[in-house]
Amino acid sequence: MAILVTGGAGYIGSHTVVELLEAGLEVVVIDNLCNGSREAVRRVERITGKPVRFVQCDIRDRQGLDALFREHAIEAVIHFAGLKAVGESVGKPLEYYENNVYGTLVLCQAMEAVGVRRMVFSSSATVYGAEAPVPYVETTTRGTTSNPYGTSKAMVETLLEDLVVADKRWSVALLRYFNPIGAHPSGLIGEDPQGIPNNLMPFIAQVAVGRRDELTIFGSDYPTTDGTCERDYLHVVDLAVGHLKALKAVEAPGVSIYNLGTGQGVSVLEMVGSFTRVTGVEVPYRFGDRRPGDLPAFWADASKAAQELGWSAEKSLDEMMADTWRWQSANPQGYAE
Ligand code: NAD
Ligand code: UFG
Repeated sequence: MAILVTGGAGYIGSHTVVELLEAGLEVVVIDNLCNGSREAVRRVERITGKPVRFVQCDIRDRQGLDALFREHAIEAVIHFAGLKAVGESVGKPLEYYENNVYGTLVLCQAMEAVGVRRMVFSSSATVYGAEAPVPYVETTTRGTTSNPYGTSKAMVETLLEDLVVADKRWSVALLRYFNPIGAHPSGLIGEDPQGIPNNLMPFIAQVAVGRRDELTIFGSDYPTTDGTCERDYLHVVDLAVGHLKALKAVEAPGVSIYNLGTGQGVSVLEMVGSFTRVTGVEVPYRFGDRRPGDLPAFWADASKAAQELGWSAEKSLDEMMADTWRWQSANPQGYAE
């Protein structure tokens, strides 16, 4: 029996496939490569020394999914596939709802048809909304999301919860990620955003490697220690390990929700300072306007994952910086070279 990883050619998916294979599990990857790379999958094979079964298919393609489930015996699905750019989602709501919500619906229907009813889903801290008290705790109800991407995550959480209410055989883990950064310590796989990076860490890395002139820090007058926003950055390998632990949680029916973060807020200025201290590379920056929709500061209460899954983030911010730089400096153009 294998674990089906949707979006396994992407950033978090590829790192998770490494952990699954190294734990001795069988894996099938499905990805339409709209934001992932076939090369990432080849490099996962290099890291692990194991072949990866890869199927290029869209999760909205029901016939493709049916064929995949016929061909491979799947016991559970880790579902990463989806679109993730917050800003882009505002201009393309239909694409986001179709990929993220309808895509998940089709995937669940295909799973139901073959009696596979275990899913680990990539949700996001964004579902807490702007009003939730910090640190975010899983018992806080979902808040008002401020963009179609966030709303699509909240909608899928609701969809999966309703599915479990309707059929007690379903088992779902909703993993609310905070801010994953870093790369596999081998330097072979990492984050490879298309176009101008939306997120802080890949932007810093691309400035450091000379692909961009300077970082713009969005806002310097937030009510935080140094005026810049604070986030809970966690190492992508820790996050990947969290999925391995969550597979245990979906052995029992029902819905479980877990924050995956470190529990520590780090400011944008601290991130820049930390990168330079660890790598010795200066990152020129200037302050710009606030980015619409950004919250001043949030981080996780990660105690539930620690108690119930035995998971906690282990890697330090210095390791996140060193691993990001190893990946970016060895692969200045990402997988394109
Ligand atoms: P990513 O874009 O690197 O990976 C997503 C993968 O899914 C890509 O390889 C893409 O080609 C594939 N994909 C997209 N739509 C598809 C479809 N319809 N059919 C098949 N494949 C499809 O993103 P990531 O950073 O690895 O994120 C993975 C998941 O985690 C996403 O659902 C994202 O929303 C969620 N998430 C990410 C973050 C983050 O900061 N990276 C934070 C919270 C949640
Ligand atoms: N930032 C800059 N300059 C940049 C990019 C980002 O100053 O060029 C700042 C942002 O303003 C923010 C911080 O760096 O204060 C982090 O920004 P990211 O875009 O890296 O991360 P976000 O917290 O905004 O969003 C991320 C994911 C979302 C997810 C959210 C909550 O991108 O998908 O975390 O989990 F919903």
